[in-house]
Amino acid sequence: MSFRVWSYLAPLTLTVSVLGQETPSFGPQELSFFENNVRPILKSNCDACHNPTNRSSGLSLDSRENVLKGGKRGPAAQPGVPADSLLIRAVEQTSDLKMPLGRPRLADQDIATLRQWIDQKLPWSVTKNDGKPRNWDHWAFQAPKRPAVPL
Ligand code: HEC
Repeated sequence: MSFRVWSYLAPLTLTVSVLGQETPSFGPQELSFFENNVRPILKSNCDACHNPTNRSSGLSLDSRENVLKGGKRGPAAQPGVPADSLLIRAVEQTSDLKMPLGRPRLADQDIATLRQWIDQKLPWSVTKNDGKPRNWDHWAFQAPKRPAVPL
């Protein structure tokens, strides 16, 4: 390949790989797993106390970015490592931190779903209702470039 062609391609390849490190690309199955199974659990059990306007302990669970950012104790989840994820320890109620606060423990099935989600590196489908412009831009930029590669 001639130098001329490379000089066009190199910056492009670099851009794609740098962005790829930030957020893995998720296939449609992972995204619908999030949408149908994970989002409803967060919505009905956690959202009231962990949203952008009410961040209990600094934690908002309204976007992938904010889950990774976490709260006062640090990241709420380690992508791919449920056992090291604060969120999982909290819902399993194995330490002093017991979530959801003041409510019944989640069903085992729901905890398993959250574990699977973190195992999959936290796929998150951004909907137009999420009101998160930065995240939305980010995902929209990647999706057409890296379609459906299962991890
Ligand atoms: C009724 C309000 C309420 C609900 C519902 C709730 N939380 Fe919390 N959460 C809190 C409060 C308050 C704290 C801080 C507790 C503390 O520091 O001891 C907290 C702390 C946390 C933390 C630690 C954050 C940090 O870095 O300090 C995690 C993780 C967490 N919650 C996850 C969840 C998850 C997952 C759910 C849903 C299954 C949930 N919470 C539901 C109120 C709530």
